[in-house]
Amino acid sequence: MEGKRPLEGRIRIQGSKNAALPILAACMLIPGKCVLRGCPDITDIECMCSLLKSTGATVNTAFPDTETVGIDTRSVREQRLPEKYVSAMRSSVIMMGAMLGRLGEVYVNYPGGCVIGERPIDLHLYGLEKLGAQIWIEGNHIHAYADELRGAVIDFPFSSVGATQNAILAAVTAQGTTVIKNAAKEPEIIELCKFLNMAGARIDYSGTLLKTGRIVIQGVELSRLHGVTYDIISDRIVAGTYLFAALAAGGEVTLENVPIRQLDCICDTIKTMGAAIAVDADRNEMTISACDRARIVNVPYIETDIYPDFPTDLQSPLLVAACMARGRLAIREKIFSSRFRIVEELQRMGAEISIEGDTAIVTGGRELEGRTVIARELRGGAALVIAGLCAAGITTVADSGYIRRGYQDIVGDFTELGARISYVG
Ligand code: UD1
Repeated sequence: MEGKRPLEGRIRIQGSKNAALPILAACMLIPGKCVLRGCPDITDIECMCSLLKSTGATVNTAFPDTETVGIDTRSVREQRLPEKYVSAMRSSVIMMGAMLGRLGEVYVNYPGGCVIGERPIDLHLYGLEKLGAQIWIEGNHIHAYADELRGAVIDFPFSSVGATQNAILAAVTAQGTTVIKNAAKEPEIIELCKFLNMAGARIDYSGTLLKTGRIVIQGVELSRLHGVTYDIISDRIVAGTYLFAALAAGGEVTLENVPIRQLDCICDTIKTMGAAIAVDADRNEMTISACDRARIVNVPYIETDIYPDFPTDLQSPLLVAACMARGRLAIREKIFSSRFRIVEELQRMGAEISIEGDTAIVTGGRELEGRTVIARELRGGAALVIAGLCAAGITTVADSGYIRRGYQDIVGDFTELGARISYVG
């Protein structure tokens, strides 16, 4: 990409990766046919579809377009998940809860995923064990078995999105009532509950989840679950990435199909940094104007936290926007321990950033120079593209396959916004 051009125009935001992945896993639990509309066309979704196919499900990913996925799990029987897919993606671990509910047994290895710090699965296993699963671990291999899953009180010591999803999936067909305390409150949890309830589950989350972090599930017979057609919500993290891109590079950008209410904290941050945001709630559109660069300034301090606070997934895009704003910003990463891996690359481009423990201190206003930089994980990779759009000269982002895990067509989107950018090779 050749940087230093403001972004202008409008683009449509894709469906949410983090909502679609657990819903695809939930399809495994439902002995019927489901259709998911608005599924993003990204490699993590391909990977989850391959996992479903490996169990015997029929998955149609072009039904009738590339964003609609049809899943028929009536002939599922395989309990072993192939290591090839499981080690490629951490979300594969949430297949455990669905498979225990459906087949009573699952063999899986420790999951992979982006290297953004310690990512244990102890809370996932704790939730499943509470529901009556027996779990054996040998080296890298996990074997879980449940004669019968039984409702229980699962009291998580802290909030985990994936562990909450795993517990929900296993509790849907458990005997009796399950109460999940300290459940994650991310919108993707609510989407999973909505989908499962449409398919015949009995999950009570409304009212209680955001206030108390509590989800109550009345177990139902597996035979009560039935196939549904469901629309995947749009991706708040992709929307946030493009908002920070406009804040960093300047210009005026309209985003269509935006989950407006999920972006409150991000919009507040961007407005405090001097850009204007206009919302058209009827049309689900949002316009950011960051044309007057003299007004773009850093706020002193931001920390990542669980929803509804600032999401860890947008910490890297914020870091780049902070490089392009006047003044200093300290960003504390509270969720993942190694999420400052792009700092070294940004420093090579001329950014002034220092790391003190879990906090990055950015002194903005330095000119960035185009370089060849390496993407090492999904969101950091997208942030390096933003940096390239702000830098003088040519920037090449190597290993951009990481970005394809979560962004349908980042190059096409930025081209639409007037950037000079293309895929190489
Ligand atoms: C999900 C999102 C990811 C986002 C993250 C935090 C998906 C597919 N991914 O990841 O994009 O960055 O939420 O919002 O939805 N932890 C444990 N033990 C466990 C599980 C988690 O210690 O068993 C820790 C993690 O290391 C981390 C914290 O809990 O420090 C939160 O992780 P979690 O909410 O589980 O993230 P994911 O579900 O992996």
